[in-house]
Amino acid sequence: SAPQDLAGRQVVVSAGGTREPLDPVRFIGNRSSGKQGLAIARAAAARGARVTLVTAHLDADVAPATGDLRTEFGTEVIRVETAEELATAMRAEAATADVVVMAAAVADYRPATVSESKIKKDDSGDALSLTLERTPDILAGLAAERPRGQVVVGFAAETAPDREALLELGRTKMARKGADLLALNVVGWRTGFGADDNAVIVIDRAGVPVAEVDGSKDAVAHALLDAVLELEAARD
Ligand code: C5P
Repeated sequence: SAPQDLAGRQVVVSAGGTREPLDPVRFIGNRSSGKQGLAIARAAAARGARVTLVTAHLDADVAPATGDLRTEFGTEVIRVETAEELATAMRAEAATADVVVMAAAVADYRPATVSESKIKKDDSGDALSLTLERTPDILAGLAAERPRGQVVVGFAAETAPDREALLELGRTKMARKGADLLALNVVGWRTGFGADDNAVIVIDRAGVPVAEVDGSKDAVAHALLDAVLELEAARD
């Protein structure tokens, strides 16, 4: 069994992809499966943490794992749909957390208005224009308001051509978000979202790589938690 090096810690993890409604039957979503976030929640629970999993939409083949998490580890599971709901849940849960991991794929934009009735072809003809508005940046908000000592971890999924480009994008994102650690990974049409494996580089606030993993999402989860503990130890 895993070392109990997170015993006594409260860890909050977000997972899955948000869905932003257009009308009662449609939404704007993304390809996140929820696998990486769930792997982090499971790994943290296995290492003794009290875990709250805040989850947006999960792929059907991943979803049953939430039931397992609850029964196996006593993990609390909160289900949300939209970026706004995720923001509200994360703000509430993060208030008492030692570690916060934003692994959810959050919509950056949502429909500015949500139609009460189904949008009809007859009303729009051959083309339909949608006005989208920005959603709140949850990670940046959590980082800005984190309680003393809390470690805030984010993800950055990028379509970068190579390692250097990925690091550069990650450093820019780190500066904007103000997290303690950022897990950078390359996504494309065939890699990243939905896969069982993941390749990530974890950078610290200064943009320095502190961990690098190419393996299962479980391996990535444990490496990320190791990096959190190393960061905490370095602060003491
Ligand atoms: O800016 P980008 O979406 O690439 O940043 C990714 C990180 O920020 C992820 O950790 C994601 O969970 C988080 N995020 C957020 N709120 C948003 C968009 C992204 O917390 N509106």
